[in-house]
Amino acid sequence: MSEQTYDLVVIGGGPGGYVAAIRAAQLGMKTACVESRGRLGGTCLNVGCIPSKALLHSSERFAEARDHLAEQGIKIGKLDLDLGTMMGRKDKVVDDLTKGIEFLFKKNKVDYVKGFGSIPAVGEVAVKAENGASQTLKSRNVLIATGSESTPLPNVEIDEKRIVSSTGALALGKVPKTMVVIGAGVIGLELGSVWSRLGAEVTVIEFLDRILPAMDGEIAKQTQRVLQKQGLTFKLGHKVTSAKAGRTGVALQVEPAKGGAAETLKAEVVLVSIGRRPYTEGLGLDALGVKVDNRGFIQVDDRFQTSLPGIYAIGDCVPGPMLAHKAEEDGVVCVEMLDGQAGHVDYNLCPSVVYTWPEVAGVGRTEEQLKEDGVDYRVGKFPFTANSRGRANAETDGLVKILADRRSDKVLGVHILGPLAGDLLQETVVAMEFGASAEDIARSYHSHPSMSEAVKEAALAVHGRPIHI
Ligand code: FAD
Ligand code: NAI
Repeated sequence: MSEQTYDLVVIGGGPGGYVAAIRAAQLGMKTACVESRGRLGGTCLNVGCIPSKALLHSSERFAEARDHLAEQGIKIGKLDLDLGTMMGRKDKVVDDLTKGIEFLFKKNKVDYVKGFGSIPAVGEVAVKAENGASQTLKSRNVLIATGSESTPLPNVEIDEKRIVSSTGALALGKVPKTMVVIGAGVIGLELGSVWSRLGAEVTVIEFLDRILPAMDGEIAKQTQRVLQKQGLTFKLGHKVTSAKAGRTGVALQVEPAKGGAAETLKAEVVLVSIGRRPYTEGLGLDALGVKVDNRGFIQVDDRFQTSLPGIYAIGDCVPGPMLAHKAEEDGVVCVEMLDGQAGHVDYNLCPSVVYTWPEVAGVGRTEEQLKEDGVDYRVGKFPFTANSRGRANAETDGLVKILADRRSDKVLGVHILGPLAGDLLQETVVAMEFGASAEDIARSYHSHPSMSEAVKEAALAVHGRPIHI
């Protein structure tokens, strides 16, 4: 039994857990972070946000060189793909960033404890190392930040070679000729885009009759059109009832979601991306009496306290958007409240970005949600075809859409399909945090020529007075 008592022991070294640990140490708490993966950074750094963005970037450059540079008078002879080098670069980016967090832990004096954590009793974390050694850490507070895992699909067994989750899809050894993606959500569209750009024929099968269910409907529709133009095929309103991997590929049984005749599809590789679920296995929550909801998310109050005092939870394993920046904010706010400070998170202002090209980004309410809630709103839209920088850069797909309250003009939602939409969205996230009106955005300087002028124009369009359209 370790003699020292910590102020905080965090279980899980992902963006929720490691950021919380660093913030706690900054506030003077004696802090440890327990991580079983052997590397810090969690899903996000190791098998999520970062490797996917590295491959999205490289595959974008490849597709641009193949399909678009000639239009600008840049001729390349024979274009070759060196997938090994592309994967190697991705792995190096991940390695460097995970080591960076170890450095930050040392700098902030956070103890990094390698091993699998469980909670035998309030105030204790038992850690089992890979070599079997075990120790028990005592702590005034315990923070669970154990994240999530991909949701399995019945009758579709993942082997990470032919039938893959996002983890396998980030590490394929060769470009498959054909790929079926199950689920037209964020992972399906991002990783489907990667392999399509590199040469795979990609078919996306989606249960609902639309893609990206969490995004504004009009923006999702336009996104589908743009991705179809890039070569992705969509089979909406269908479900996969089984998939069997053989020597040369996978045979899938597919049915209309509403019922009807089944058909067989074949693909060299199948990606299952139908959502993620909280991961809390082995923590001992049941025995301890920590309550989870019917989907397995740990129940917390607005201070992130679980049903037991002294035990807190944040990030993907608690309800809310399953995003890295959400996990980080949860962690910071939870720890600051432990320190006696005030704090709150507003998930309505948590932005969401899909890193296809062009990107899809949204914050606040969608038009469908406003209609459902009977809110009287105005909408302003501006297409990138009318944006001079978009024209100059040959980036004209997409639009900015701003939704504002009809009477107060307060911005209620912003949705963008366009070049670097995630970065463009950010000014509106800040504006919304300050309770801005569409008029506030419209009257702010936006540099010329810039993509951000499309945001200003959409804000002007809320009042029916855009200049360039
Ligand atoms: P995690 O990052 O899952 O970290 C939890 C950690 O806890 C893991 O390292 C795990 O090993 C460890 N752990 C679990 N149980 C124990 C235990 N008992 N003892 C010790 N350690 C334990 N989000 C974005 O915002 N932007 C993106 O671009 C983005 N891209 C993504 C791409 C993919 C392919 C995937 C799969 C996800 C992506 N996400 C993205 C989501 C993002 O990765 C998660 O929302 C984020 O990682 C959640 O952080 P977390 O700290 O809650 O959990
Ligand atoms: P998702 O929830 O985004 O999308 C899943 C899709 O699968 C939905 O459209 C759903 O209707 C569909 N679906 C569900 N069951 C189905 C079935 N049986 N057959 C066909 N379709 C089915 O989940 P995804 O893409 O797996 O991503 C998980 C989470 O990871 C996301 O919710 C997001 O929080 C996070 N993530 C975030 C990224 C980002 O911020 N850029 C990138 C990747 C992941």
